[in-house]
Amino acid sequence: MRVLYAASEIMPFASTGGLADVGAGLPKALLARGGDISRIMPLYRRVAEGGYALKDTGLRLDIPVGFQMHQAEVWYTEDPPPRTYFIRRDEFFDRSQLYSLPERDYDDNFERFVFFQKAIVSLIDTLQWHPDIVHCSDWQTGLLPLFLRHGIQGSGRKQTERTIFTIHNLAYQGLFPGSQYSQTNLPFFCFNMDCAEFYGSINCIKAGITSANLVTTVSQTYAQEIRTEEYGCGLHGILAQMGDRLVGVVNGVDYSLWNPKVDPHLAKAYGPDDISGKKDCKEELLRVMGLTISPEAPLIGMVSRLVDQKGLDILTEAMPALMESNAGFVLLGAGQDKYQKLCLEWASRWPGRFAARLGFDNPLSHKIEAGADIYMMPSRFEPCGLNQLYSLKYGTIPVVHATGGLDDTIQDIDTEGHEGTGFKFRTYTAEGLAHATQRAIALYQRSDLWPSVIRRAMAQDFSWERAAEDYQKRYQQLMS
Ligand code: ADP
Ligand code: GLC
Repeated sequence: MRVLYAASEIMPFASTGGLADVGAGLPKALLARGGDISRIMPLYRRVAEGGYALKDTGLRLDIPVGFQMHQAEVWYTEDPPPRTYFIRRDEFFDRSQLYSLPERDYDDNFERFVFFQKAIVSLIDTLQWHPDIVHCSDWQTGLLPLFLRHGIQGSGRKQTERTIFTIHNLAYQGLFPGSQYSQTNLPFFCFNMDCAEFYGSINCIKAGITSANLVTTVSQTYAQEIRTEEYGCGLHGILAQMGDRLVGVVNGVDYSLWNPKVDPHLAKAYGPDDISGKKDCKEELLRVMGLTISPEAPLIGMVSRLVDQKGLDILTEAMPALMESNAGFVLLGAGQDKYQKLCLEWASRWPGRFAARLGFDNPLSHKIEAGADIYMMPSRFEPCGLNQLYSLKYGTIPVVHATGGLDDTIQDIDTEGHEGTGFKFRTYTAEGLAHATQRAIALYQRSDLWPSVIRRAMAQDFSWERAAEDYQKRYQQLMS
């Protein structure tokens, strides 16, 4: 079975969030199961400058985008495996960011990703490589099933591939003015309400959902939630009718990267058999972030895109109550300006007790996972969520809103700490969040109980093995 995994971001090459972690972990796990898998993504500036062993295939593809013809270069690397192909066109991808500057999205995002997706089809045909499965992810590859079906000129193509489309986040749909539809060269009949059209606009995620052979999303609960008006982002009507053509598969964790026993970013290694090194990690984190709380006081950590999804509205409301305790709080994040400003306000309101680092910093994210005692993840909605899973492995007990993947992967801890892996709240309110955090802080003070809570968290296994087996089974079903 031959699989092509297509995504707009893949770790370590380029990342803005969890999608990139999946692009690293899932293909690697499929490869370990003996799959023949390759990946494909755009060659952004940060890939070109990242020091990777990139090679030019020498292939040049002419890609029609509306009436224009653009040439794509095809590069690749084998390191880390599996093989990753890169579509290069500097006019589109040699930019400081992947999708947007802080103020706004790049104006030509539709053109950029139409070009990328058509280049994928053209590469498949040029190499005569015949993947059995093309696995697409999120809106940036939502039109790919249509290009595979109708060809890059829209005049038809002999399709041999089956397609699977994974929704990582329904809130990002890839909406563009209907007037840009001609850039696709697709037949006009695809621009209708059963396919790529949404109230007069082009909706890329809708195109993926309606045209792929199978649609998955990244947790069972989210697979149900998005069928409702509350979570469906306007697409619940379609999703509710999909029956078992829409399934949930919870993401895994790459424990070669996220494991305090082998993590090169930590002050000291530790594992479930000896957690003493976690103290050193905490002390280092306090120092790095400039906190002056006692090392005995509870430390709350958070690593997050600073966007509405992540529960920052109720966190803002709950902050004064949380800071009434003796807890410290460290936050690493980048995103919306209003939240970045808020972080600076908190730092000046609670100096020595709250510290934020604004920006994307992978080593620091590992230090926070290890050095904090409690992990804050109050997301309004969360398709899967990875940081709560990393937190478990690092013995950093998560506080989560019971939604999507957070609900599926975290069991609530009872008052005596004998069962459960985190502190959950069901109603999305500041009170709910504050109450769950206070429960966490209270149990943290119970030095007779807390170490066993840590050990239970660290014993959880969310390795990619299980999810990769599930995907492989579904690929096989699609082929038969
Ligand atoms: P989402 O994809 O919605 O952002 P996930 O929990 O699935 O949420 O994944 C987030 C991933 O991005 C994690 O690997 C997390 O560590 C990483 N991340 C998010 N923000 C930052 C940041 N500012 N610096 C470093 N890593 C970050
Ligand atoms: C999205 C979701 C997140 C999920 C990630 C990987 O970014 O917001 O919940 O973990 O994709 O699937």
